Amino acid sequence: MTADNTTTQASSVHGTWTKRWTFVLAASGSAVGLGNIWKFPYITGENGGSAFVLIYLVCILAIGIPIMIAETLLGRRGRKNPIHTMRDMVTASNASGFWHVIGIMGTLTGILILSYYSVIAGWALAYIPKLAGGEFSGATGALANSIFGGEQGFLSQYGTLIFWHSLFTIVTVYVVAQGIEAGLERAVRFLMPALMILLLILLVYSALEGAFAKGAAFLFTFDISKLSWNSALTALGHAFFTLSIGMCAIMAYGAYMPKQDSITKTITVIAVMDTGIALVAGLVIFPLVFAHGLEPSAGPGLMFISLPLAFGHITGGQLFGALFFTLVAFAAWTSAISLLEPGVAWLIERFGFSRRKAALTLGASAWVLGLGSVFSFNIWQHYKFAGMFTVFDGLDFLTSNIMLPLGGLLIAIFAGWVMKPEMVDDELRMESPWLRSAWWFALRYISPTAVAVVFVLGVYDKFAG
Ligand code: TRP
Repeated sequence: MTADNTTTQASSVHGTWTKRWTFVLAASGSAVGLGNIWKFPYITGENGGSAFVLIYLVCILAIGIPIMIAETLLGRRGRKNPIHTMRDMVTASNASGFWHVIGIMGTLTGILILSYYSVIAGWALAYIPKLAGGEFSGATGALANSIFGGEQGFLSQYGTLIFWHSLFTIVTVYVVAQGIEAGLERAVRFLMPALMILLLILLVYSALEGAFAKGAAFLFTFDISKLSWNSALTALGHAFFTLSIGMCAIMAYGAYMPKQDSITKTITVIAVMDTGIALVAGLVIFPLVFAHGLEPSAGPGLMFISLPLAFGHITGGQLFGALFFTLVAFAAWTSAISLLEPGVAWLIERFGFSRRKAALTLGASAWVLGLGSVFSFNIWQHYKFAGMFTVFDGLDFLTSNIMLPLGGLLIAIFAGWVMKPEMVDDELRMESPWLRSAWWFALRYISPTAVAVVFVLGVYDKFAG
């Protein structure tokens, strides 16, 4: 901490170091979250495994990273909250007011995602005392299943779910209300490495005790024949979700980045790390799933069934299990902050709210909306919109599969075609001419085309199929 104080005071020379870390830590804190450990494994299981993983990796590389770079550079160029940044960029480019939609839709999407994100993060919180108390010691697959989803199980107790959902919302609102730097920087610096170490311990366990070959084959024997357009859309949407792009969260954080830092390098490191963590989580979960006769397509409960089961058989599993879910909750926390921040910054600047009032207002809105997701797993589980969506499913589909890809598409077109290329190049300063052309090509041609095609065919497949 002393080091940080010193550097902040000597602002011109050393100040940049602190700020550089702020961006890297905040952006990786935002990217690494429930998406990596909870969502990636479960949607991979639901979509049949390896073919889905392949499409997901292609989406990260060809679409996600180029758009993430574009979103960050918009933020650093604008240096304001996303709605005002976009307004300035539109003015500087003499572009139509239509493009304001990027900032506005992004800010709204953040609140919609937060509403169900904090419900699932609440599950992780609830699992801390469950594991510490030894509820899973020596459990069979069937027992772990019924503790989670059984008739009297965890999901049926909506009062409990609301309690943990509320607690998670409160701590998220608290940090955003305080201003981000102090708490977040410290939290991410220790928690991220700790989370990775625990995941690696689990990986060793799963390699020794799980059906590792079968789990790995499920993830990596690429068989394209199993793929549908709807799965491709889910993979695309998840690439946006896991990198925290398409809704201006990274744009908001990009404003902290010092001018001389390489956006390309920083973003590539963050994206590779984020993807690595998701793949390791998959390699932990699926071997355990197959070894214990669980269903890979179990849905949102996958992590909450397979991992407690593993901890129930590890020496010291009560301690490590509780620790693991603590870290998952922290990873979710640093992500949730980035979902709330753009809206809060906007309320402050547009309507003169105090930071506290803004965080409370939006936090409360997300909390109320989140109740719909809580009830999706119990008393409302049979109400389905369009015959297929509970509130939770609907919000997840709308945000991940519709709004994020749409936001990403607009960002790609805006940075690729509407902004002055000199401005973009000036912000990026890519040294390698080869990389520079590759990025321009990916941004201008590959991303918009791929997103548009997958989007249209995926939505059609979902509703017609
Ligand atoms: N990336 C986070 C995760 O994987 C979730 C998240 C945080 C997010 N901020 C976001 C998703 C902004 C989309 C947009 O858990």
